Amino acid sequence: MNSKIQRRDFIKITSAAGVALLANEGDARASEPAAPSPLPVVISSANGMKATAKAMEILKAGGKPLDAVIAGVNIVEEDPSDTSVGYGGLPNEEGEVELDASVMDGLTCRCGAVGALKSIKTPSKVARLVMERTDHIFLVGEGALRFALLTGFKKEDLLTDESRKKWLEWKSKLSATDNWLSEESEGTAFGEVIKHYGTINCLAVDPNGNIAGTTTTSGLSWKIPGRVGDSPIIGAGLYVDNEIGAAGSTGRGEANIKVCGAHTVVELMRQGKTPEQACIETLERVVKTTKEKRLLGADGRPNFNLNFYAVTKKGEYGGAALYPSRFCVNTGAESKLVDSAPLFNRPPR
Ligand code: GLY
Repeated sequence: MNSKIQRRDFIKITSAAGVALLANEGDARASEPAAPSPLPVVISSANGMKATAKAMEILKAGGKPLDAVIAGVNIVEEDPSDTSVGYGGLPNEEGEVELDASVMDGLTCRCGAVGALKSIKTPSKVARLVMERTDHIFLVGEGALRFALLTGFKKEDLLTDESRKKWLEWKSKLSATDNWLSEESEGTAFGEVIKHYGTINCLAVDPNGNIAGTTTTSGLSWKIPGRVGDSPIIGAGLYVDNEIGAAGSTGRGEANIKVCGAHTVVELMRQGKTPEQACIETLERVVKTTKEKRLLGADGRPNFNLNFYAVTKKGEYGGAALYPSRFCVNTGAESKLVDSAPLFNRPPR
């Protein structure tokens, strides 16, 4: 842990039920207990209210968890108002939208992914076809696009007027937020971070305990063309093990890739940790491995957020984030937002 960080700023998970207890300031929300939920269950990042509802509808009708999560996130990929995923996603530094996505199916132990894919609204569907119709797992850039076109996808313009306007605003202020850094670059305060890392992760467990997941994103806004984040990396942005459970992430991908986050969460659940405990322990590794001055506040804490979501084969679920956040759950009725357990109860200073 960074020496500037006071132990009192950490929120301790003190019981198997995963009750978040503040050692000092009392402003953090209590976390949702990792209670087993009757199967089926679907969880997602907070932008997945419609996605989780759709996925649950498919599971209740007897559909497969992989079909359920992909159909769920397709709603968000095709929604121009979500500027973090698919159509309408914020572009790279040259104004082009590049999408990343992964899928993983616990039942068949198979997975597929695409990175830096242009011109296709639904990269999760392309990732699925990489899984089902090739001997490969991960296609990127021009090769991923050619594969998508060969398998029947049509090229479309992914930049909306809104995302183009935001890109032009960013370009007009370009300098402090540039992606090209020197060794000595200063940190940016939490509230001033104007890059966006939004993403959707969706995980589902069917009534028989079979699990699938997907993570899909337009990635970091204003990125260097070709930058790939954690979302399409199996073991970082998504991991599914049908014997144990699944995990996924949203937030700063560069921080997650270093700790192989989703795989780490699943391995910690294998050791007996609850989903929430596993997510918290993985976030502690993220803090330990974040040493760059430009990524820390004056008090030594990360100036970005990172979220993990996890579910077990039995339907226990949980989420945690560096800073207060929420995630979406559907256990058969309406989708609802619940609190993630925050590792820190307040933003960095
Ligand atoms: N987690 C999304 C990204 O960093 O691209």
